[in-house]
Amino acid sequence: MFPDKEAKLEEFRKEYLSCSRCHLRAGCTQVVFGEGNPHTKLMFVGEGPGGDEDIQGRPFVGKAGQLLDKILEAAEIPRKKVYISNVVKCRPPYNRKPTPEEMKKCLTILAGEILIIRPKIIVLLGSTALQGTIDPKGSITRMRGKWFEKAGIKFLPTYHPGALLRDERKKRDVWEDFKKIREVYRAIEGSE
Ligand code: URA
Repeated sequence: MFPDKEAKLEEFRKEYLSCSRCHLRAGCTQVVFGEGNPHTKLMFVGEGPGGDEDIQGRPFVGKAGQLLDKILEAAEIPRKKVYISNVVKCRPPYNRKPTPEEMKKCLTILAGEILIIRPKIIVLLGSTALQGTIDPKGSITRMRGKWFEKAGIKFLPTYHPGALLRDERKKRDVWEDFKKIREVYRAIEGSE
């Protein structure tokens, strides 16, 4: 649909740099867009920028991001091959969870990224990503590790890497989920 995805994404990004659709923009340093390979089949969605992301203007660069990098490396999925974004693009005050209203307003940006990139797989990192996209009442504990298909895209919810930093026991489940992601990703990559 968009032969030049880079240009389209850049145009889209510029359009929202000065977004003021909700009050989060007034309290953050900058709008943190997704980043990565716009031609990827695999996209990751987190909650929203934290302190490090707010300063650096890039998603998943703080402690949770460093853990995500390690998991990706262990799963042999290079970060530069995927696209990583968030449900909200502005850091909520004190890193609180974004409200349903804030998520709804910001969904225009995530939906735009998905429309341009057209991934085949979207991994939802944590309950906010799950609730902000496919199921407002979804429970990450009950839904993690299970595939859901919507609009031709395979969604897989798993725990947020930040949750693993708080509770190491979740690591085993996340590793099981990443093995599934790798398998489906490789099958899709191999079929094209
Ligand atoms: N947590 C998130 O959900 N997203 C980030 O970009 C960083 C931490």
